[in-house]
Amino acid sequence: MSAVDIEVAGLAKRFGQVEAVHDVTFTAKAGQVTGFIGANGAGKSTTLRMLVGLTAPDRGSAEFGGTPYRDLVDPSGTVGAVLDIAGAHPSMTAVGHLRTYAALGGHAPARVDEVITLTGLEPYAHRRIRGFSTGMRQRLALATALLGDPDVLVLDEPSNGLDPAGIMWLRLFIRRFADAGGTVLISSHVLAELEQVVDGVVLIERGRVLWSGSRAQLAEQGGLEAMYFQLATIGELA
Ligand SMILES: Nc1ncnc2c1ncn2[C@@H]1O[C@H](COP(=O)(O)OP(=O)(O)O)[C@@H](O)[C@H]1O
Ligand SMILES: [Mg+2]
Repeated sequence: MSAVDIEVAGLAKRFGQVEAVHDVTFTAKAGQVTGFIGANGAGKSTTLRMLVGLTAPDRGSAEFGGTPYRDLVDPSGTVGAVLDIAGAHPSMTAVGHLRTYAALGGHAPARVDEVITLTGLEPYAHRRIRGFSTGMRQRLALATALLGDPDVLVLDEPSNGLDPAGIMWLRLFIRRFADAGGTVLISSHVLAELEQVVDGVVLIERGRVLWSGSRAQLAEQGGLEAMYFQLATIGELA
């Protein structure tokens, strides 16, 4: 695993009258889990999509180890992104889906079995995706993102639809990934879900970074709710 920091500087995106992302700047460091936390509509998904070139920014930049996504020599070996889990064809099996993506991405066929094991999909490998629960779809999307053995994982609300055991499994998975030197950027609309596992926190509200720092610094400020209250009191949310 190579150490690849994510550096986001001054990202902005407007959709018609909606200013989805006003000004987002932060760094997510290799070897750390960075939580990207904000309410629904705060601009998390738009920001993450701009990171990997799925949405073109109006302003600003996003780089992986100093290189924009579109210029990476080996994109799927550098960044694995799970931004939308609706992409898999319902009549395919999990294995069929992963074999197709491995072939498209030029990955060794043996990698399919590895990512199935990594994501605990063995019991479902030969079942059709049509019958998958949201949690199984999340695992399959993660398995697909892992095919290229990336240094960075970008996950958009991966706990949605997971049961408590699934959430615990995901926490362990991303912790191990970061402990092995990987970079994890994970969004959520609830910090509590990630509080145990994140090293750094970036709080986003109405397309702006309200606050960023370490989990310990957030705790020193009295936690997330106290932080919001403090910011609201000094007028930043008014
Ligand atoms: N393709 C789009 N067209 C128009 N508005 C959009 C589009 N994508 C997002 N938005 C709007 O931008 C804002 C931020 O959305 P989003 O980035 O999805 O936030 P989050 O992921 O934090 O819930 C919301 O007001 C949303 O409705
Ligand atoms: Mg979103």
